Amino acid sequence: MQIKLEQKVLQAIRKVVGKKNINLHEPSFTNLEFEHLQKCIKSGYVSSIGSYVTTFENKLKMITKAKYVIPVVNGTAALHVSLRALDILPNDEILIPSLTFIATANAVAYVNAIPHFVDIEEQTLGIDPFKLRNYLKKIVISKNKFSFNKMTGRRIRCLIPLHTFGHACNILELKKVASEFNLLIVEDAAEALGSSFKGKQLGTFGDFGALSFNGNKIITTGGGGAVLTNNIILAKRALKLSSTAKLKHDWEFIHDEIGFNYRMPNINAALGCAQLEKLDKFIKDKRNLYQKYEEEFKCFNNLYLFKEPQFAKSNYWLNTIILSNSAKYKKNSILKYTNLNGIRTRPAWKLMSTLKPYKNTPKSDLRVSKSLYDRIINIPSSHFLNNS
Ligand SMILES: Cc1ncc(COP(=O)(O)O)c(C=O)c1O
Repeated sequence: MQIKLEQKVLQAIRKVVGKKNINLHEPSFTNLEFEHLQKCIKSGYVSSIGSYVTTFENKLKMITKAKYVIPVVNGTAALHVSLRALDILPNDEILIPSLTFIATANAVAYVNAIPHFVDIEEQTLGIDPFKLRNYLKKIVISKNKFSFNKMTGRRIRCLIPLHTFGHACNILELKKVASEFNLLIVEDAAEALGSSFKGKQLGTFGDFGALSFNGNKIITTGGGGAVLTNNIILAKRALKLSSTAKLKHDWEFIHDEIGFNYRMPNINAALGCAQLEKLDKFIKDKRNLYQKYEEEFKCFNNLYLFKEPQFAKSNYWLNTIILSNSAKYKKNSILKYTNLNGIRTRPAWKLMSTLKPYKNTPKSDLRVSKSLYDRIINIPSSHFLNNS
């Protein structure tokens, strides 16, 4: 009897992760987290003032080599405050991938700008720089050194490249395109802490980079995020905006503009300090886990396991199988069969350009994004599965 593709996929995953029910991605804690949390609670400093926030910030600076790091309440806030700090204006168009988590598009909407969806490439799962350049050549008219969309008359001001599932997009080519069209860059590196491209940490290529430490990310602070930048003026601006725009004064409350209460609380930073000590191990485990999956999936001819792009070193946050065109009709049966059998798998996010809040916003041809949405399945990727 011929065995079905969904059964083969389940068997391959089971060979790596064992017999138990397995989640897609789980946080992992030891006594170290409890020790730091206890110390933080005993200190009484559990909110936005406290030494753990500074320690967390310094640790992140060491890891990412970003000159300035501003810990905030989550990755969405990191994106939002970055766009505000760059003075994105209402009605500016911001180029983003259509295949992303909704936070990328929402952050654009929070500053009353318009997401403009562009296509991705299969090699990196990130924005395709060559297709983007050709598209912009067609739609852009340049005025006073700014790029304007000929069709809508609006200014195109910024590009938000995503490092999808922890893998580097073609960030250096994208930087070239951005500079040709005078676009700012905010990297959505929410999933990519510890990943690099040509030896440089993701999140440090753009004007800003945004990280997330949500419970499903490679390290967690419960909820949390960080803004990265190498520009001191932008860093000061983002810090001020994320801390209610409060001016320094020994006792008075003076706020000279409308800011946000986005600073990361000390208790979350305490958790993050413990987690960061394990980041190297988490990455090593996840890279090994990829190798184990690779061994099991290499004999499939109707799907492949996504591998880090050339010149990139990935944290392999979420392992991803990509079905061939001829097998894409199997996506839902694979999702159903694996989930019914205790293995949590999930599809890629629905394209932003198809969702109610964003379906009437501008978009390029999204052929590759559509095709990948039909073919992507994420499989369990917690670091400890390497030891199953
Ligand atoms: C691609 C992407 N962007 C932004 C975010 C937002 O991060 P957060 O959930 O911490 O707000 C996430 C994660 O959830 C994400 O995966």
